[in-house]
Amino acid sequence: MTASRIVSLGHYQPPKVLTNDDLAKLVDTDDEWIRSRVGIRTRHIAVDETLVDLAAEAAQKALAASGRLAHEIDLVVVATCTAVERSPNTAAAVAARLGITAPAAFDINTVCSGFSYALATADHALRAGAATRALVIGAERMSDTIDWTDRSTCVIFGDGAGAAVVEAVPDERAGIGPVVWGSEPEKGDAVVITGWDPTISQQGQAVFRWATTKIAPLARETCLKAGLDPSELRGFVAHQANLRIIDAIAAKLGTAPDAVIARDVVDSGNTSAASIPLALSKLVERGELRSGDPVLLFGFGGGLAYAGQVVRCP
Ligand code: UT7
Repeated sequence: MTASRIVSLGHYQPPKVLTNDDLAKLVDTDDEWIRSRVGIRTRHIAVDETLVDLAAEAAQKALAASGRLAHEIDLVVVATCTAVERSPNTAAAVAARLGITAPAAFDINTVCSGFSYALATADHALRAGAATRALVIGAERMSDTIDWTDRSTCVIFGDGAGAAVVEAVPDERAGIGPVVWGSEPEKGDAVVITGWDPTISQQGQAVFRWATTKIAPLARETCLKAGLDPSELRGFVAHQANLRIIDAIAAKLGTAPDAVIARDVVDSGNTSAASIPLALSKLVERGELRSGDPVLLFGFGGGLAYAGQVVRCP
């Protein structure tokens, strides 16, 4: 049976960095509060870079690392909740920038879990023979949604992008594992980004409780569906929302003591749909995760939606 695998990864963050001390000049906050409650030290903020710039930079790096050519890509999927342009969609704009001709190109918005939805959608298309090679991107300009006078949100979010080249392979075991996905729409008002000039607001404690109680069992189910016990994972890349949430889920899941737990939230803040590919790409680039390592990706957030799958590192 045909499967699909991640061939290469790439990521991009805009160069401007905002520290906690920078934010303490804008709102009534301090480094100690932010570090102890969320775990963030810095976040990257786009100044001149558009969402398409961020996505295209990450995609270009993933494509270059894959050794494949632009015309060999026939599917582009971008996960984002911060697209300003409705038409052309972000995926089409990225494809045009990279010289990818005639791809199926579309955006997916499931907020923070978007990358896992996009990866599953690409995997299903490749398995079905509807495409042969895909670029799957998570990209966000969360700074567009921030009220810089609201201390409860402005310290949390950042901008960035991560991308993966995914292609069909004959060996099921080398591939992307089955997705576990779903949502609790009745809790939709826990994270809200609305209007043409949107501002993000969230019920932080409610999302915190939901994430720390509901996600670990779903993450375990995802491992078991992939034929692995969580203790066999080499890595765990959760949505980078909050260090305390990440560590709580990893502890409940029962990862091995030497498993690599992504903690990119410390340097990058919460980049919504970009957070998982960004963190995974950095871990592979630094050699902390190696080719063939089984890694659980698990996204959760606005919706309230979740999705995850076990992948093998490129
Ligand atoms: O990716 C989208 C999904 N979203 C999430 O996963 C978010 C999940 N939730 C969280 O990560 C946490 O709930 C937050 C980081 C958002 C907030 O942490 P918390 O420990 O739940 O704090 P809190 O909202 O209960 O606020 C505690 C106190 C409040 O003051 P009072 O009412 O106790 O006097 C806040 O006004 O902290 C205050 N506060 C701040 N103080 C200093 C809120 N933001 C700040 C701040 N600096 N930046």
